[in-house]
Amino acid sequence: MTTASVERIEMGSLTCWSLCFNNSKLLIAEQGAQILSYGNEGEPPIIWLSEQAELKPGNSQRGGVPVCWPWFGDLLRNPQTVQAMHQQPQQAGAHGLVRSIDWTLEGVEQLEEAVSITFCYNSLEQPLAHWPHAAELSLTLRLGERLSISLVCRNIGQQPLAFSQALHSYFAVSDIHQVSVEGLQDCDYIETLEDWQLRKQSGAVHFNGETDRIYLKPSAKLQVIDPLWQRTINLLSSGSQSAVVWNPWIDKAQRLSQFDNAAWQQMLCIEHANVLDDIVTLAPEGEHRLSVDIWLDKQLTHQALV
Ligand code: BG6
Repeated sequence: MTTASVERIEMGSLTCWSLCFNNSKLLIAEQGAQILSYGNEGEPPIIWLSEQAELKPGNSQRGGVPVCWPWFGDLLRNPQTVQAMHQQPQQAGAHGLVRSIDWTLEGVEQLEEAVSITFCYNSLEQPLAHWPHAAELSLTLRLGERLSISLVCRNIGQQPLAFSQALHSYFAVSDIHQVSVEGLQDCDYIETLEDWQLRKQSGAVHFNGETDRIYLKPSAKLQVIDPLWQRTINLLSSGSQSAVVWNPWIDKAQRLSQFDNAAWQQMLCIEHANVLDDIVTLAPEGEHRLSVDIWLDKQLTHQALV
């Protein structure tokens, strides 16, 4: 017998939705269709939200899973086809335009094995500044034994649509010095902190300084191994050929908004993305789906134990 519920709640000045399925809880803001938190009752969170997150209109919350679209990162670092979609690329902010606007609730579904909620955004009904194109996004979150996130973009115009994007997931960790990420060994990556040099990962990723890397063609399954919390966060993705791994460390933490100076020790971003050679170009009526499943094993993987 499962227990499930969906409830609309106000948090700060944001309309949010709280989904429960058995022991798991998911909180989402309509603004940006942004997941704010996910975890199991009575346990450390799986998805991290900053204690300083400002739950107010007009800014993306620090933490959770912001949706970066129709570009990821600095627009000027994007391929020319993505830059050309914008009328003033020199003035564009980071991570696109939809993480701080309201999305529309499309529907809620309660099934025996999961609850799900879908939010939509349509650029014809709610135009974006300096980005005059016709696209429809839908983000479905399905909470069952695992959390499934699915972002679909449809080209509803007459011209090709080019974009980069990411599900910018923040994960909670016991201590960044102790955790590692599996699934990226032998991948090429772009070291954005060293003039975007191309490098190769050897072994698991460990953290001992600011980290901001774009991994190319990662494995579909990535794992965050957390020995202190005796757990593994599993991530299984499709529709993405690039993954960004980010931790701001000490100095950058002090420059980030909504971020405690010490918070870098308890978080880690793994962002399933479509960037660089992996950007998406959709013909009219074409669609693209980026999906990530997230679940916890309350034990370490074999690799971490040996
Ligand atoms: C990551 C980038 O995706 O997002 C980092 O790789 C960036 O360079 C970080 O600092 C946070 O970005 P923002 O816009 O949310 O502060």
